[in-house]
Amino acid sequence: MIWFYCSCALLFILKTSSAADTLLPNQILKDGDETIVSANFELGFFTRKQSLRYLGIMYYKKGENGTVVWVANREVPFADPMGTLKFTDNGTLQLVDVNNTIIWSSQPSKTLANISPVAQLLDNGNLVIKDNITGAFIWESFDHPGNTWLPGMKLGVDLVTGIHRNLTSWTTRLDPSPGSYTVSMDVNGYPQLYITNTIGESQQRVGSANGLGFTGMNGLIQNNVSEHEFVYKKEEMYIMFTLLNNSSFTKMILNYEGGFRQFVWNNNNQSWKKYNALR
Ligand SMILES: *[C@@H]1O[C@H](CO)[C@@H](O)[C@H](O)[C@H]1NC(C)=O
Ligand SMILES: *[C@@H]1O[C@H](CO)[C@@H](O)[C@H](O)[C@H]1NC(C)=O
Ligand SMILES: *[C@@H]1O[C@H](CO)[C@@H](O)[C@H](O)[C@H]1NC(C)=O
Ligand SMILES: *[C@@H]1O[C@H](CO)[C@@H](O)[C@H](O)[C@H]1NC(C)=O
Ligand SMILES: *[C@@H]1O[C@H](CO)[C@@H](O)[C@H](O)[C@H]1NC(C)=O
Ligand SMILES: *[C@@H]1O[C@H](CO)[C@@H](O)[C@H](O)[C@H]1NC(C)=O
Ligand SMILES: *[C@@H]1O[C@H](CO)[C@@H](O)[C@H](O)[C@H]1NC(C)=O
Ligand SMILES: *[C@@H]1O[C@H](CO)[C@@H](O)[C@H](O)[C@H]1NC(C)=O
Ligand SMILES: *[C@@H]1O[C@H](CO)[C@@H](O)[C@H](O)[C@H]1NC(C)=O
Repeated sequence: MIWFYCSCALLFILKTSSAADTLLPNQILKDGDETIVSANFELGFFTRKQSLRYLGIMYYKKGENGTVVWVANREVPFADPMGTLKFTDNGTLQLVDVNNTIIWSSQPSKTLANISPVAQLLDNGNLVIKDNITGAFIWESFDHPGNTWLPGMKLGVDLVTGIHRNLTSWTTRLDPSPGSYTVSMDVNGYPQLYITNTIGESQQRVGSANGLGFTGMNGLIQNNVSEHEFVYKKEEMYIMFTLLNNSSFTKMILNYEGGFRQFVWNNNNQSWKKYNALR
């Protein structure tokens, strides 16, 4: 009797923990439902800009309402808490409103044929649609950065697919719609990283390759919390950073005023501490 009880409890735990970070074809996530959770992140609906609703990825339980690191419907928020995320059987994520109108969708970068799609929120905060058989990614949120650069996320250019991975600031502190600043890599000649004010059309170089590695950045991403990794190949050129210790949490933000800052989570007082900054 006791044995029977225990094995049921174990099955239940395995079932819920394996489903928690994944959406299967024809599954949906409604505003108000439980969120999808990985080890360090969660995917769900949240409020910004008065009472508008957005779908995004947050650092899990970092701060009172989580820390938003990526927003799907930056430009088209919901006016009501009636949005739904759908995962179609051909492997597309669609965000629909109360009338089933699609307001955002993942655009597959590869053709889909004979695949077994799953959508999974990875432990590093990357939301991926992958073929469950081969493990190949069909789409990933890290290919579409917002204002936040996370460990493991590339900034640069993929010359095969033509994807530019740039950061774009929010419009204001509470409005995720694309603002005035971008961080992007210029790959004409040796790659250089720029903050561009797209309205004033001014640029500031924040880092550059010099044949030996990547310099500049003023202590951002290369410090006692994280280290940078610069890749310069004919197929792709990018800069990325990784944590020195996976029990720490960090993020780089391009804020709405063009400040480029690294924050590190302080466990003692449960807040983000500014670590290094450019502007
Ligand atoms: C957290 O969310 C609640 C409910 O939306 C809101 O009242 C509160 O101000 C938020 N707190 C922070 C720190 O944003
Ligand atoms: C996948 O299915 C959805 C809804 O059935 C459709 O809107 C979308 O165009 C399809 N996408 C592809 C790549 O076939
Ligand atoms: C949904 O459709 C109804 C009826 O056409 C309309 O009144 C309402 O504004 C629509 N809601 C949204 C969010 O588009
Ligand atoms: C994905 O693959 C794993 C491992 O092969 C399997 O256990 C799981 O059932 C598959 N899920 C789907 C939705 O196909
Ligand atoms: C990224 O920045 C590059 C260089 O400024 C620009 O050519 C490209 O259009 C940008 N891409 C996006 C998606 O903003
Ligand atoms: C890392 O560097 C910061 C500032 O440069 C310093 O305040 C902090 O104590 C250092 N931390 C460790 C673990 O060395
Ligand atoms: C990583 O950080 C944890 C928690 O702060 C600490 O206990 C551990 O010793 C660190 N590991 C290394 C290799 O520094
Ligand atoms: C941190 O985790 C990543 C992904 O699991 C792994 O590749 C990396 O080696 C880990 N780094 C350290 C310092 O443990
Ligand atoms: C949290 O602690 C750090 C380090 O002691 C301090 O610099 C920071 O200002 C504190 N933050 C808050 C919100 O109290």
